[in-house]
Amino acid sequence: TSLFASDNDLWEKSTLNQIMERKVLRVGLDAGYMPFEMTNKQGKIVGFDVDIARQMAKAMGVKLEIVNTAWDGIIPALVTDKFDIIMSGMTLTAERNLQINFADPYIVIGQSIMVRNGLEDEVQSYKDLNDSKYTVVSKLGTTGDIAAKRYLSKAKLRLFETESEGAIEVVNGKADAFIYDLPFNAVYSSQNPGKLVHLDTPFTYEPLAWGVRKGDPDFLNWLNNFMRQIQGDGTYDKIYAKWFES
Ligand code: ARG
Repeated sequence: TSLFASDNDLWEKSTLNQIMERKVLRVGLDAGYMPFEMTNKQGKIVGFDVDIARQMAKAMGVKLEIVNTAWDGIIPALVTDKFDIIMSGMTLTAERNLQINFADPYIVIGQSIMVRNGLEDEVQSYKDLNDSKYTVVSKLGTTGDIAAKRYLSKAKLRLFETESEGAIEVVNGKADAFIYDLPFNAVYSSQNPGKLVHLDTPFTYEPLAWGVRKGDPDFLNWLNNFMRQIQGDGTYDKIYAKWFES
């Protein structure tokens, strides 16, 4: 038996090796999180993560397959091999990191608040919202959900399966505030001028990172080196400018 048998075995089982043999990279994401992944008018899933995923597949020399998955079940879907990687604006949290591994973060964001019209004078920070007279909304299982429970424990909390269902409550005056990742709120408020007010100072620290199954150093090594390359050669900046600066 080879001295390196166990190392070879690890590579055989690596998701990266499986992708190369299959000739397809399967990316799990939950569309609806602008500008990272959303469905356009033609019904195609587009966005910042999707463009990076396309570059990734290209660098591997394989085809890209997008697997649209509800947020609530996205980690179990990764763990049970429904796709190879989560590229879905996922915040790297210590709790999630017990279940899955993360590549080095590709962007840092934070939670921000969109309040209903008329509330912008009495609510200027998340601290002002921590009161039982307010109803806040967010998306189930996200860091918005976690932040609301942690920082706004006195407010009433309602959770929705999708971003748009939550945000529309604030537009319609049925909830006082939507707590969510700042990039989403920035796009949403600019698409709905005059319908709500975005308080655009983030109040949490959230690195976003690609999630992979545990026990796969070969895949993680490739991903981190790929990221370093695209961050250095202008590819990342170009894709960033396309989705964040227009
Ligand atoms: N960053 C937040 C989290 O990790 C929300 C991400 C939602 N992503 C999505 N594709 N819907 O909980």
